[in-house]
Amino acid sequence: MQGSTINLTRGVPPTDAFPVEDLIACGEAALRRDASVLLQYHRGGYPPLREWLGAQYGVGPEQVLTGNSSLEVFSYIIRVLVGAGRRAFVESPSYDRSITLLRRNDAHVVGVPLQDDGVDLEALETELEAGAPALMYLITDFQNPMGATTSLEKRERLAELADDQSFWIVEDAPYRRLRYRGEDVPSLWSLAPDRVLHMSSFSKVLAPGLRLGYVIGPGQVIAELFEWAEHSHIGPVLPTQGMVYEYCRRGLLDVNIERLKDLYRPRLNTVVAQLNDQIPQAQWTEPDGGFFVSGFLPQGNHIVDLRERAEEAGLKLSDGRDFFPNPADGNRFLRIPFCSLTEAQIVDGVSRLAGLVIR
Ligand SMILES: Cc1ncc(COP(=O)(O)O)c(C=O)c1O
Repeated sequence: MQGSTINLTRGVPPTDAFPVEDLIACGEAALRRDASVLLQYHRGGYPPLREWLGAQYGVGPEQVLTGNSSLEVFSYIIRVLVGAGRRAFVESPSYDRSITLLRRNDAHVVGVPLQDDGVDLEALETELEAGAPALMYLITDFQNPMGATTSLEKRERLAELADDQSFWIVEDAPYRRLRYRGEDVPSLWSLAPDRVLHMSSFSKVLAPGLRLGYVIGPGQVIAELFEWAEHSHIGPVLPTQGMVYEYCRRGLLDVNIERLKDLYRPRLNTVVAQLNDQIPQAQWTEPDGGFFVSGFLPQGNHIVDLRERAEEAGLKLSDGRDFFPNPADGNRFLRIPFCSLTEAQIVDGVSRLAGLVIR
């Protein structure tokens, strides 16, 4: 084994990117100002933070629910909108934990193939002929795991289909603000606010340990989610919300996002260049933002065997099959999270990988 182990499994931010001193100052200021609210029970989240979040989207706080992570919020959405055995559509591949969460809640998960510019609409329309799903879960910006961004044309068609066929779309957008090049595409929520729940979190733009996520949606659905959340946890952890509210109120979030983009942009450029240079036989994605590049390895490779050999070479790889509703579709699939690695580690990691991939 050469050098120290390089971990290419989960998409986590680098710990040295956390704005620790600012968060300490904001946490203290928040508690000094509003301890009687922040240390008490409160359903739905810290009101000033809900107000602030709503203002970012041009809606009132009654359209905002916060929770302890977006994954927790998604679990409430599933319980409220998807009954046991009902169909839930996801992109194939999709975020492995969301697939697991849907299945744990007895949803029938149906994968719709993902292309470079979003889901395959023909395949979706064929699937819709068998009936509309209870919900469709989409990661429209810098998708996990592919890195793909759904085009405006596809967003418009998706909004139309959801409207016509009365199904909910959950737009999961934790990476949306981490765009390293190009122009923002309007969110699906902005195109169909009556049919889309827009979910996001502070995990990738600030720190995942905060466990602070939220959803924006139609008032009636948010009210139902409030009720479900209240009977699940009474209210989310508030001191964290006070700290984050203070951080946002001081205008530090935008500054932090710009700093992160400057940190991650060269890492993306390096990983894409290295992969295309050293393993050109695979088809690698070229995302404009987010945390992940991914690719399908040439015929003859299998992720199980590759992971075993990678472990011996000091390289930890995720199991590509976990991202696919039909696991066998991911036998040759590899997701590469690049944000937490330095450029030197990226070069080293890709060179170790290149020595293992069968051409
Ligand atoms: C698409 C997507 N949604 C949700 C999450 C989890 O976010 P949170 O930390 O808010 O639960 C992740 C984390 O990797 C993700 O990639």
